[in-house]
Amino acid sequence: MKNFIFASILFALLLTVNAAPFQLNKRAIIFGPCNHEPPVDSLEVKIGADPPEFGKNESFDASGTLTKNDITKDKTIFQIQYEDSDGNLIAVPYVQNFANSIKARTPFNVSASDVPTPKLPDSYLIAVLVGDPDASGGVIFACASAAVGGSSKKSKNFDLFKLI
Ligand SMILES: *[C@@H]1O[C@H](CO)[C@@H](O)[C@H](O)[C@H]1NC(C)=O
Ligand SMILES: *[C@@H]1O[C@H](CO)[C@@H](O)[C@H](O)[C@H]1NC(C)=O
Repeated sequence: MKNFIFASILFALLLTVNAAPFQLNKRAIIFGPCNHEPPVDSLEVKIGADPPEFGKNESFDASGTLTKNDITKDKTIFQIQYEDSDGNLIAVPYVQNFANSIKARTPFNVSASDVPTPKLPDSYLIAVLVGDPDASGGVIFACASAAVGGSSKKSKNFDLFKLI
């Protein structure tokens, strides 16, 4: 009987150890507001593969409503960037122009399906921005971010990048 109990406990332990990595992988990436001053509008963001995989393309779907800024076709940009836990860029941000103009206070959505995933450290931050890179040094209209892998530091690098 003692042997049986011991074997059962051992078996339960083995199960726990096997289950742990699986649960880590299942943890979903959740986007929330950015730590940006002055505060900007928020975005709802969904990603395709969770977590993103190095060397593959990731898809991002964002939606929201801008309170005071208009989205201007070929001028306003949708930008996605990966940062390390110190807030430094890991790779050149992905930048895409809006294909339609959308007035403020009108719900909009935007998608980018081919965003290359850089080699990522254990902790990183994904920031998704909507803004105008040409307006007085770059103005962010809306933003969302997600910290992955227990990254506790907040981003400090929310510059908008122009399309070349
Ligand atoms: C996204 O916007 C397009 C038009 O701009 C609309 O047809 C579509 O239903 C929207 N999708 C969602 C999920 O809101
Ligand atoms: C990933 O996206 C880039 C453009 O950003 C594209 O050139 C490439 O073909 C895509 N790769 C795959 C595997 O879809």
